[in-house]
Amino acid sequence: MEQRWRLLMMMIVMSFFLGSSARGLKLKTKVESPRYNHTLARTMVEYASAVYTADSTELFTWTCSRCDGLTKGFEVIELIVDVQNCLQAFVGVADDLNAIVIAFRGTQETSIQNWIEDLFWKQLDFDYPDCSGGKVHHGFFNAYNNTIVRSGILDGVSRAKAIYGDLDIMVTGHSMGGAMAAFCGLDLALIYGSKNVQVTTFGMPRIGNAAFASYYSEVVPNTFRVTHEHDLVPHLPPYYQYFPQKTYHHFPREVWLYNIGLGFLIYPVEKICDDSGEDPDCSRSVSGNSISDHLTYFGVEMGCDTTSSKCKIVMSPSLASYGKEDDYGNFILSRVPSKSVSKIIPEPRMRDH
Ligand SMILES: *[C@@H]1O[C@H](CO)[C@@H](O)[C@H](O)[C@H]1NC(C)=O
Ligand SMILES: *[C@@H]1O[C@H](CO)[C@@H](O)[C@H](O)[C@H]1NC(C)=O
Repeated sequence: MEQRWRLLMMMIVMSFFLGSSARGLKLKTKVESPRYNHTLARTMVEYASAVYTADSTELFTWTCSRCDGLTKGFEVIELIVDVQNCLQAFVGVADDLNAIVIAFRGTQETSIQNWIEDLFWKQLDFDYPDCSGGKVHHGFFNAYNNTIVRSGILDGVSRAKAIYGDLDIMVTGHSMGGAMAAFCGLDLALIYGSKNVQVTTFGMPRIGNAAFASYYSEVVPNTFRVTHEHDLVPHLPPYYQYFPQKTYHHFPREVWLYNIGLGFLIYPVEKICDDSGEDPDCSRSVSGNSISDHLTYFGVEMGCDTTSSKCKIVMSPSLASYGKEDDYGNFILSRVPSKSVSKIIPEPRMRDH
């Protein structure tokens, strides 16, 4: 009895220490933190919206109705459609940004309510590789790492780099797509260097614990996690302030979009939050109770472009020549970038390596 009591006291004291260190989550090196760029976030949200397009032909040729506006002229060089797991992502080159853009589609389930309910119960059940104490949910990680998605993305990025040289890499996604974007950004930052990778997510759920969040923010400091009003997904899986070792913890830096004012005098605010990842004065200051706030970011419609059944794929036979399909019906379309010849690295430089 005595012994068990002592053990319990020890655990309480220990959890206090662990807890206080976890809450800090300060970056070790105080580098100048990356600047939030509104125009860039507005551009990224359009990519994150376009990747929901069900028609692969329209997406691959960048002619879908959402493939316009700030993303006009974008060239997809790799489109990955995982029919088995209902995932979709593309890699392409944005001339105006001088960057490779990668976007991940969010969940395409018939009922977003079901998916959200499910988020409550996600366990921190997977040790993130090479990250001491870092835990994530295996499902989020596997969707990126252990499907055809990762190899397709890496192939697209290396092909783009071989032709255009050192472009920045910008990764984006909404909802579950934001979770995949984060894992992809982390993967690419480890391969190509932290300086060259930036991540912008919209309405993403929490994906790991405090140790993981801290590791993530060191490897991918140039990350903005945009949240909107009462969007409930960023509130999930829940954050339990009093169980710092057991709880999910967002990484920084949140940018919270909300409106102030009343009636005709409403204007939008973009609040740049603190570097803890869990700023109590941002989206956490309100309750997460809105699905409709989840489905619009910067006035751009997120989510599926059709109300049709789960994971609908529309592909015209003319695209078959670009594709390779596996036994499960998953396919990757890829092609050589054709445009912006002016930017292509001259031959001699390629031989230098
Ligand atoms: C913000 O991003 C846009 C590209 O979307 C770029 O043209 C602009 O120069 C950036 N602004 C700053 C201050 O870096
Ligand atoms: C991630 O995927 C790569 C292959 O793309 C594999 O070698 C590696 O083991 C995977 N990592 C984990 C932790 O599953």
